[in-house]
Amino acid sequence: MQSLNAIARKLVTRGKGILAADESEGTIAKRFAVIGLPVTLETRRDYREMLFRSREAMDKYISGVILTEETLEQNARDGTPFRQLFADSGVIPGIKVDRGAFPMPGSADEKITEGLDGLRQRLKHYADLGAGFAKWRGVIAVTDHAPSRNGIRANAHVLARYATYCQEAGIVPVVEPEVLADGEPGDHSIARCEDITTETLETVFSELRLAGVDLSGMVLKPNMITPGLRSREQISVEDVAQRTVNVLRATVPAAVPGIAFLSGGQSDEEATAHLSAMNQVGPLPWVLTFSYGRALQSSALLTWNGDPANVAAAQAAFTHRARMNALASLGEWRPELDLAA
Ligand code: 13P
Repeated sequence: MQSLNAIARKLVTRGKGILAADESEGTIAKRFAVIGLPVTLETRRDYREMLFRSREAMDKYISGVILTEETLEQNARDGTPFRQLFADSGVIPGIKVDRGAFPMPGSADEKITEGLDGLRQRLKHYADLGAGFAKWRGVIAVTDHAPSRNGIRANAHVLARYATYCQEAGIVPVVEPEVLADGEPGDHSIARCEDITTETLETVFSELRLAGVDLSGMVLKPNMITPGLRSREQISVEDVAQRTVNVLRATVPAAVPGIAFLSGGQSDEEATAHLSAMNQVGPLPWVLTFSYGRALQSSALLTWNGDPANVAAAQAAFTHRARMNALASLGEWRPELDLAA
């Protein structure tokens, strides 16, 4: 069996990143609503098969894919297990193991992620199916009253407990504390995001240490430091990059091999530009790459539009976005490369 550190380092191989394709049934329904497509087992499979059979993207730019339980065990239309496609491309399959974020008792604006019960047995099953890593998302809402100290601590604590179960099963935990940019009301300043993310990451690493998590065998999946999506603050790409790197330097131990960001509602190009700018800031102790859902998939989804005739064009759109982000993970993306597409 590969060591946790070897798997984690492979996930953050320079020039590659993670495709988050673990939308819950509710979330994929929202995505499909944009193209007016009904959500069935078959439409979910066909859509994801289009992504996973994008051979150039999967071979060259993608290190791992985060899946739902349904997809991890699913076959392509012709009966080929999706897991075979990943093996053919050298992509590590990963699994979302949380059961979603639910209202936190006693705190109207906050949520706590559930899914620890039975996790040990489920992880064993996923490891038997070949999953090399897992994901758990803790949601930190930003409102006038939130987050509370208790909300941050509770989410950090369950993230740490999840991480210990993963490592016990030989699975690399992707630890995702997301300070929401696209929540309600979503008009907070970049300074507030900076403060809350700093406190969140400090608390997460304190809980991870307390729980005895091997920091060299995990990947952090944080938000970038940005204003809320409905804030009117105008912030340059360089400012987002510098502030994000500053917060990470202050809170993330160098033992962590890599940091793979979520896109959190940023546009495709913003998410790429921010990642590239961060990789130009200077020498950093960890690899900085992407673990995007929307910012990798949205152009491919719109191009596909549920029509088999559009598969090749959708795959080209996905491959382009994956290549742009792969360049960004090396600090080599430039706006002209996107305009030329
Ligand atoms: P987005 O990049 O669309 O934010 O999704 C990433 C993810 O996996 C959220 O849990």
